[in-house]
Amino acid sequence: YRTLRVALLGAGAVGSQVADLLLKHGDELADRAGAKLELAGIAVRDVDAKRDADLPRELFTTDAETLIVGSDIVIELMGGIEPARTQVLHAIASGADVVTANKALLATHGSEVFEAADQVGAEVYYEAAAAGAIPIIRPLRDSLAGDRVVRIMGIVNGTTNYILDRMDTEGADFADVLAQAQALGYAEADPTADVEGYDAAQKAAILASLAFHTTVPLDAVHREGITSVDAAMIESARHAGYVIKLLAVCERLAAEDGGTESISVRVYPALVERTHPLASVHGANNAVFVQAEAAGDLMFYGAGAGGVQTASAVLGDVVSAARRHIAGGVGVGESTRANLPAVPIGRVITRY
Ligand code: NDP
Ligand code: HSE
Repeated sequence: YRTLRVALLGAGAVGSQVADLLLKHGDELADRAGAKLELAGIAVRDVDAKRDADLPRELFTTDAETLIVGSDIVIELMGGIEPARTQVLHAIASGADVVTANKALLATHGSEVFEAADQVGAEVYYEAAAAGAIPIIRPLRDSLAGDRVVRIMGIVNGTTNYILDRMDTEGADFADVLAQAQALGYAEADPTADVEGYDAAQKAAILASLAFHTTVPLDAVHREGITSVDAAMIESARHAGYVIKLLAVCERLAAEDGGTESISVRVYPALVERTHPLASVHGANNAVFVQAEAAGDLMFYGAGAGGVQTASAVLGDVVSAARRHIAGGVGVGESTRANLPAVPIGRVITRY
């Protein structure tokens, strides 16, 4: 096999598992990718920090910029906007394809990143950027490209589902369960992103952009988090036959008074009937319902957060990127992302 050089940026909850699986399953991945995937190095802040996996010390560096040069595939798992944005643009300019799980980056600078990639014929893969291990990016972008998605409704943040579920089923304390979600590697580096709904809003913007073939700016997403949800509210909901879930709802709105069709994208804690399938999504799992005109109702369910679970989605993207390299940069194109038509953002509806 030809050898492809892979650079990994970040070795936290997700990155350490990606490195571990790449090293453990190198031969199998080579067979699937048609190329040997050589992990050239891992860029971190502290090369001596304790890792979730036992990784060779000599792979670590604090010099991401140098590591990127000459790489065929750069996996960005640092999170946050900077220096992730700069390093992703550097990777693209250096001729690499990029794999990232960074929804914060894509929801705020996606157009810049995709345009940079389109200009040089590079690709940006981001299956792990929404709903962790659940395949949802490719289904929306590829499998449903011939259909017309009318609505997406889902639980897309594992941390908040874990918190709400433990509060509901065990009467657990909000702060205690949040600390556990952090220890389990579910939460963002700053968990405000989870509990205030920013992370879910970023994912909703990404999913809605794909589903409705437009670019949904993050500030067009109505966002409410779960910090105002307390034990008494959960108890009242239970007595009335409901469970509280943080939902992301993205939908087409019919044209009114001869106007054009618009879309609504919103994230908020909702009362879900206990008999509804979303009510039985427990722990850090996620579920995404997609309603399309021809396909009807589709449901995607699974681990929405967690290091090794998310590593599965990241490595799937790495294999796709490797296959594209081997095919000479053709065949699995993800272009046509830049310059998408703008669909008007319609009124906010805060109940589903
Ligand atoms: P962590 O905070 O656990 O890890 C971040 C890693 O990036 C660390 O290894 C850190 O280095 C490194 N890093 C951070 N800043 C820099 C920098 N300036 N220079 C070099 N290295 C840096 O994050 P996660 O693994 O949880 O998440 C990674 C990405 O995946 C994020 O975008 C997140 O949103 C996304 N994601 C996470 C999921 C999860 O369940 N955790 C699920 C789906 C997506 P050091 O260790 O030395 O501090
Ligand atoms: N913090 C995120 C969550 C990680 O809890 O869903 C997965 O994107």
